[in-house]
Amino acid sequence: MLIIHSPKTAIETNKIQDGEQMEGFAKYNTKLEQVFHLWKKDYNSNFSNHSNITASKVRELIDIATLRESGVFFTSDALAEKAINSFNEPIDDSSLVVDPTCGSGSLLVAASRKLSVMPLASETLEQWGKQLCGIDLFPEFVYCTKLRLVLESLVRGAEADKSLPELLDLLTNIHTGDCLENIAVIAKATHLALNPPYNNSKTVAKYRWANGKINNAAIYYYELSQVLKDGSSISAILPDVLRSGSRFEAWRNAIESTLSISKVSVEGRFDKQTDIDIFILNGLVDRKTPSIIEWQTAETLGLEGSPKLRDFFEVSVGAVVPYRDPHEGKLYAYIHPKTLPRWGEIGKISENRKFSGRVFQPPFVAIRRTSGPRDRHRAVPTIVLGKRLVAVENHLIVLTPKNGSLDRCRELLKLLKEENINEFLNNRIRCRHLTVSAISEIPWRFE
Ligand SMILES: C[S@@+](CC[C@H](N)C(=O)[O-])C[C@H]1O[C@@H](n2cnc3c(N)ncnc32)[C@H](O)[C@@H]1O
Repeated sequence: MLIIHSPKTAIETNKIQDGEQMEGFAKYNTKLEQVFHLWKKDYNSNFSNHSNITASKVRELIDIATLRESGVFFTSDALAEKAINSFNEPIDDSSLVVDPTCGSGSLLVAASRKLSVMPLASETLEQWGKQLCGIDLFPEFVYCTKLRLVLESLVRGAEADKSLPELLDLLTNIHTGDCLENIAVIAKATHLALNPPYNNSKTVAKYRWANGKINNAAIYYYELSQVLKDGSSISAILPDVLRSGSRFEAWRNAIESTLSISKVSVEGRFDKQTDIDIFILNGLVDRKTPSIIEWQTAETLGLEGSPKLRDFFEVSVGAVVPYRDPHEGKLYAYIHPKTLPRWGEIGKISENRKFSGRVFQPPFVAIRRTSGPRDRHRAVPTIVLGKRLVAVENHLIVLTPKNGSLDRCRELLKLLKEENINEFLNNRIRCRHLTVSAISEIPWRFE
């Protein structure tokens, strides 16, 4: 909520501030300027014929991979493209796309590819200038973003009808500044594209979800998403620790109250050179009807395609509803949550009842249906043994091993103790009742 000191001074990396690196970066900008002039004026140059081949060469040059040679690491074009393509609402000619930490502009270049191109670069850039907003602390980066957008308009077929400074000036909403102090423009965004700094804040911040020196990505995402209006779309490239780290659970809960129709896409490493895992978070700002974010699904846990519990057990809910079902039919052993030892085995069942519905043959595992995200274990089981058929109360889920083996039941008990299974269930189902489908989807790791 409240930042004691603005993380303004917490600039991304010392590397970027390093004079030598900035010099390399300035060289890259000069290269882009040269491409513009060759494209525009020099009819003997390789760039003057404006063919598709030349266009793709220019694209290669403005690709951020080239920029790496200058020692600066920023969003790759492929990742930027993915982030822009995954907005909930598509970008069109009435959108305002804001990148509050635009760096060298990969996200804005990718966003510009969703906008129309007009015959002249001046009219194209005037329109893009109204629809694309970028902020960065460093003027060199801002300049780079603008240069790349000018070249992008040429590559897309617009005629370079004005000088470079005149064209750059049309991109009026791309400027130097601290995004946390430029909240008014961010509030107008229809689309927020965000790849914030990932280092820890240099100063102490105090929020209801965390105190101290916090990962800036958590702070920037939180602060910037707070000012967005309902209906706007977010696409954020964030460090994976925000998605999976237990110390960011409170952050995850805090931001969940503003998003609906969200999607989490785990992307692995930021790039080959940078050993940071990342994910893309998409969603629609919706404070009235926010919905649960699936931070960890079977897919995000990397378990997609692996065997599931349902492959080895029949899973169903106990059939006895005590207040409703008459004591009629055959007499059976009868179990309900209170009669079962947690994490234990029961062979001698003392309660009996008459029942005319579905009954179960031991051995099987019974799991209590009622549990919540704060419980130490979400799924608390008991193994039921013996020869007698058992009537089961409907606050229990019954898992009968398909091969009839007690060993399989014991393996299941071991599995349910594991932390990642808790995490899986907590993310799969946050309400207090476990469901047959959530239990059936638990990944099985013994085969
Ligand atoms: C991960 S990089 C963004 C990369 C960018 N998407 C690209 O295509 O190159 C983070 C950027 O945030 C900028 N930055 C850090 N703090 C900022 C702030 N308070 N306001 C604006 N920009 C900031 C850094 O200068 C850096 O360029």
